[in-house]
Amino acid sequence: MSCPELAVLGGTPLFEKPVPVGQLYFPEWEKYEAAMRGIFQRQYYTNQGPLTQELEQRLQERLQVRHVICVVNATIGLMMAADALGLRGKVIVPAYTFIATAQSLSWTGSEPLFCDVDPITHQLDPECVERLLEEHGAEVSAILAVNLWGDACRQDRLAELARKYAVRLYYDSAHGFGCELDGKPLGGAGDLEVFSFHATKVLSAAEGGCICTNDDELAARLRNIRSSYGAGPARQVLRTSNGRMSEAQAAVALLSLESFDSILARNEAMFHAYRQGLEGIQGVRLLTPASVSKTNYQYVVCEIDERAFGLNRNELQQVLSAENVVARRYFYPGLHRFVPYADQFPDASARLPVTEYLCERVLQLPIGQMVDAEGAGRIAAAIRMAGACAESIRRKLREAA
Ligand SMILES: Cc1ncc(COP(=O)(O)O)c(C=O)c1O
Repeated sequence: MSCPELAVLGGTPLFEKPVPVGQLYFPEWEKYEAAMRGIFQRQYYTNQGPLTQELEQRLQERLQVRHVICVVNATIGLMMAADALGLRGKVIVPAYTFIATAQSLSWTGSEPLFCDVDPITHQLDPECVERLLEEHGAEVSAILAVNLWGDACRQDRLAELARKYAVRLYYDSAHGFGCELDGKPLGGAGDLEVFSFHATKVLSAAEGGCICTNDDELAARLRNIRSSYGAGPARQVLRTSNGRMSEAQAAVALLSLESFDSILARNEAMFHAYRQGLEGIQGVRLLTPASVSKTNYQYVVCEIDERAFGLNRNELQQVLSAENVVARRYFYPGLHRFVPYADQFPDASARLPVTEYLCERVLQLPIGQMVDAEGAGRIAAAIRMAGACAESIRRKLREAA
């Protein structure tokens, strides 16, 4: 590849149609049709139907947990979790995460206390957690940690802190399905974990998610909250919701689960193609999930250092967009800069240097069903060329602005 071949400098785009970041698994049509035919024959759309029950059973076995409670999406799962845990006051959450992590607290009247993350792994920084626990004392009722990017937090250290300060600990594991820590699947840590089965996740229900816990009482509370005092032993809860997963969602999730090993193998091949293709490019750091013993390659996350690469992250995003590669600034901005938090916590930026740094540098590249290893290699080659042609690209972008 040479400079003029880059689409931003007048060449032909690498891809004919936009290639998104996410996974977007679609089952084979015949299998999907058969699953839907079953739903029609049973005349049973929702309310803890046979497919949802089967999915919960399979997930319990796979994740080695006592209870799996399937839900309509992970955001509702996180809201139900905050309610079932009886959270009040402040909850420590990373500022570098998806907005739903913090918003789930607002629905139940508690408020986020933003914490910084580790600069190498991007996971919640336990030293920052401890500082906040010391500073805010009894106002804090829980730590909501996020297992980010197909990697995991320092769970042992967080568990120690939760014990020492007598607060609840639970996990947003929206990115974590299929990952293992010390050879054990994510799912059984803390009081509970919440997974997402959104279309962009490695296990897809189109929309969906589940809550995992080994705590029988918590599971009973969650089942009552999910389903307006529905299935299982009745419990007095503060409020109920409708977090039920439909049979159509469960059908897609079961098919996705059937193909899960091949989905992961495909992701792994793509990740290696990126690693090879990006190796040695000055100013591009590809994150490799290193805390887990097995990752799901949910995301391809790069940090772009403008001084070494020649272009900043936003400029590289424009270069890739011209190639029809929809790279994303995930997460941007940090949660502390979102409405309504920016007004609530005007001084937060100074306390979150790593989050601030990452929000300006991180770029996600496509992985999943809409690209393959060969495509990943071509994207990496375009990035290499962008670095080599940085000066002319910058000139071109400035002319166009
Ligand atoms: C870290 C994190 N938490 C929660 C969610 C919300 O998941 P859902 O879309 O299933 O509600 C997402 C979605 O991408 C996420 O990235």
